[in-house]
Amino acid sequence: MGRVLVVGSLNMDLVVEVDEMPKIGQTIKGKSLEYIPGGKGANQAYAAAKLGAGVFMIGAVGNDANSSVLLRNLESAGVDTTGISIADRETTGIAFVLVNKQGDNQIIIISGANSKVLPGMIDEKSYLVENCDIVLMQLEIPLETVIYTADLAKKHNKVVILNPAPAQDSLPGKLLENVDILTPNETELEMLTGDKISGLDLGPGPGLNLEGVVLSARKLIRQGVKNVIVTLGKHGAVLVTEDGFVHKKSYDVGTVVDTTAAGDCFSAALAVACLKNQPLEQSMEFANMAASISVTRKGAQPSLPSLAEVEEALAALK
Ligand code: RIB
Repeated sequence: MGRVLVVGSLNMDLVVEVDEMPKIGQTIKGKSLEYIPGGKGANQAYAAAKLGAGVFMIGAVGNDANSSVLLRNLESAGVDTTGISIADRETTGIAFVLVNKQGDNQIIIISGANSKVLPGMIDEKSYLVENCDIVLMQLEIPLETVIYTADLAKKHNKVVILNPAPAQDSLPGKLLENVDILTPNETELEMLTGDKISGLDLGPGPGLNLEGVVLSARKLIRQGVKNVIVTLGKHGAVLVTEDGFVHKKSYDVGTVVDTTAAGDCFSAALAVACLKNQPLEQSMEFANMAASISVTRKGAQPSLPSLAEVEEALAALK
């Protein structure tokens, strides 16, 4: 199989389990506190490696105790971490994650060393861009770096997958035209396009406005993205291209306990399936299954499934 280069963030997640999310001004009791390896970039790197790809990562951590835990965890999955720098004067990224009893989350990130992943770092490690097949990115590092890396990757004819998370108001055309596959969730799509999609039931199931999703995703296609795959949680995902759309349902493989990193898992699994030259529709099924398994487990990286687990679960459907 080929190689994925992940350019992105690493965070130590401080995960607090709660019954309900606190309201403004409210003090509530948490049920537990755990330190769990996370960060959208690191989660994607970890997931892709567990799914069998060769994975390199470019990113940055601080010179503190959290950094070694994060690096060791990535290495345990087989990720090559030689592209991850130590930013001496910064702390390792931190994410405060609240998870309620429905498995939904609210996250606050403190960027720390992730803010030091600048274009110069990509230049120093440009051999990693040259030697990979797919570049996979998210938006927890400076946007200028994402723009720069996508441009460099396209100069070397690499496939660029961008997971536009956390949500942004808009993304520049010079980035979007270098993106082969964009993987927003519904909220990210709404923010990127300014459209209101959720809450309107216009489609194959309650709570799904498929027509709105497709029309909205087409706006991004018109700005230069080749394929938009919108992740829809329990409704699966929809692939939107210039010519049409394909909706693939998610799988019910157990009780949802924690949705943290489900989107990261989807994007990474999609990259792995693309490495195998699978058509995008089939890649979405693989990614939907990987993400469906991840939400049945707690935490970011500990929830991410192996290739065998995903293949067995898909085989069990036949
Ligand atoms: O996507 C989930 C991730 O978002 C968490 O692991 C947290 O670190 C934040 O980056």
